Amino acid sequence: MRDKIRDYFEYLSLFESELYLDKLPEGSLDKIPQPELDTSVSPGSGGLNPYPSHAPYDSLEVMESQVKGCLRCPLGSQRNKFVFGTGSSRARVVFIGEAPGAREDLKGEPFVGRAGELLNQMLQQIGWQRSDFYICNILKCRPPNNRDPQPDEISQCEPFLHEQLRLLDPLWLVALGRVSAQVLLRTKAPLRALRGRVHNYRDKPFWIIYHPAALLRNQNLMSEAHQDLLTLKRMVESGEGLSGV
Ligand code: URA
Repeated sequence: MRDKIRDYFEYLSLFESELYLDKLPEGSLDKIPQPELDTSVSPGSGGLNPYPSHAPYDSLEVMESQVKGCLRCPLGSQRNKFVFGTGSSRARVVFIGEAPGAREDLKGEPFVGRAGELLNQMLQQIGWQRSDFYICNILKCRPPNNRDPQPDEISQCEPFLHEQLRLLDPLWLVALGRVSAQVLLRTKAPLRALRGRVHNYRDKPFWIIYHPAALLRNQNLMSEAHQDLLTLKRMVESGEGLSGV
């Protein structure tokens, strides 16, 4: 019995971000269920395996091959392709969107539609190449009609992101847009209150920029978005903002 209790607490520690109770908006704890225990029996263990099947892996490639068949939430059975993430495994910065859209679902890669093209252009404008960075989403499967991620989908999928970040170990994390920022920071604060300052996610400096789809809808935001990227570039390249997170 004692072993089972110890295993259960170890299991909970894999999901510590969900345990920062003071950071969660009122009521949201009820909506984000803990992932289910993996009740498969591990070979030779003689008992229940309390660890989820998505941690830990030796490399991103191994991880992707093991998790791309995921059916942990109903989105799995509706997808065309699992959108794991793409880019450099040595990226200093990981960009995190909310969930794949229609094009991404067909291609199996994040940010390949019009929003992705704009993101590529904006990175080029500040002298960065997309291929030097890593891009992924919180959800790996497309929600129907591109609706916002639901709490149960987040709780099932966010541990994949945690494992990707453990493997990548970047210097900086960047949320692409309001939904990604609000979900990861467990806040309902509007984007205008969140952007322009350095936050913390999983002990990394966390910057927030406009979602390129929002820029396609409202071109007036373009110059602020460009400034936000320039500020990010300055901080990443100077090492500024890395202390105190
Ligand atoms: N929007 C996102 O948040 N992610 C994608 O991959 C594409 C569009």
